Amino acid sequence: MTDLLGRLAAAVGPAHVLVDPDLRAPYETDWTRRFTGAARCVVRPADTAQVAAVLRACAAAGAPVTVQGGNTGLVGGGVPAGGEVLLSLGRLTELEPVDRLAAQVTAGAGVTLERLQRHARAAGLDVGVDLAARSAATVGGLVATNAGGVRVVRYGSMREQLTGVEAVLSDGTVLRRLAGLAKDNTGYDLTQLLAGSEGTLAVITRVRLRLVPLLPARAVALVAVDGVAGALDVLAAARSGLPGLSAAELMLADGLELVRAHGRLPAPFGAAHPAYVLVESAGRTDQTDVLLEVLAGCPAVRDATVAADATGVARLWAYRETHTEAISAAGVPVKLDVSVPVRALPGLVAALPPAVAAAAPAARLVVFGHLGEGNLHVNVLDARGAADAVTDAVLRLVADRDGSISSEHGVGRAKTAWLGLSRDAAQVALMRRIRAAVDPAGLLNPGVLFEEKD
Ligand code: MLT
Ligand code: ZN
Repeated sequence: MTDLLGRLAAAVGPAHVLVDPDLRAPYETDWTRRFTGAARCVVRPADTAQVAAVLRACAAAGAPVTVQGGNTGLVGGGVPAGGEVLLSLGRLTELEPVDRLAAQVTAGAGVTLERLQRHARAAGLDVGVDLAARSAATVGGLVATNAGGVRVVRYGSMREQLTGVEAVLSDGTVLRRLAGLAKDNTGYDLTQLLAGSEGTLAVITRVRLRLVPLLPARAVALVAVDGVAGALDVLAAARSGLPGLSAAELMLADGLELVRAHGRLPAPFGAAHPAYVLVESAGRTDQTDVLLEVLAGCPAVRDATVAADATGVARLWAYRETHTEAISAAGVPVKLDVSVPVRALPGLVAALPPAVAAAAPAARLVVFGHLGEGNLHVNVLDARGAADAVTDAVLRLVADRDGSISSEHGVGRAKTAWLGLSRDAAQVALMRRIRAAVDPAGLLNPGVLFEEKD
């Protein structure tokens, strides 16, 4: 046993240092199956002190570390490139009682979003972020990647929920800011610095999150429209007419067909339509009438089906939420997650097919996303060795429209080469200087967010 393995075993117990390839395997490939790499070992600490001991041991050995939460990331940021110590935070599952006065809660990094939601709801509150991977995605990873999901139109991304954090630097120093003060002007906002840092600055071990009122009445409409311009008309009507707007999601005809075939779901309407919007309104009282009223006043609506009971709401959400698994069942996609100003969406959606076909003639494009944020999930199946060309073509279309190359999934390993399309040289240089100041040896998540220089 090497010195490092011995120190890691002393830190977390030998049973939680996995060196056997079969035991390591589930940690070494990401959810998409596109990114994979062998870890030196997998280490599974149980608390913050053990995380600090692991990082001290790795720092002493000069060993790079890949940080992993629920392994639901889609850009390769949580799996090793090869040879790193994989630090899994899945055992940091401590969940404190809900603080109902502050409407906040403190959770260990390894608590799943679904468990956190159940916990908050039992106290009459809710979590502002929701997404399809809720059963496996963990709050540490959600904060580290500033995850978004389907409620951003109402509550913002993970960053907006975050009021405090506990994290460990690469040298083992523990930073703790968990009081969740609503007012605190004492210098740099170190908590927010870690949101979206993708594990390149520190290992998040606990988070303190703002909670939102639990809204028991939900009404959902699946709305058929003639295209993306019509979908934007529905969005505008919902923004002005629905005080309870809690989701506005875009689907296109071929994506809906794929989802239907995968899940054997019935056709929502008598005829197929070019595009669909899922609109949700949530409140304390029944939302059906206000939703129907808004749709009745919107000329872009070609057809609509509305549900307000739990079964009907879940049935309509399934058309949207099973896109990811339906696409993954059809192959290993190149997943691009981009945003543009909302008004630029029709132009971008129209420009994608020819650009992708030029880069990968046999490719199949499936596009869906979060309409309210101009966030498209561009999935390219059968890219056959043209992943970089497809990525380049799509991300340049986005940059030409003042968009972001990563709307919610992060840069990860997948998009480091294109960071300069969203951040100018001065910003990238400053981000690198911050990284070098906080983690001088570059041990945390090397190759994630930034291209390796040497
Ligand atoms: C979603 O919105 O469903 C997620 O971001 C997952 C995905 O893009 O596939
Ligand atoms: Zn998404």
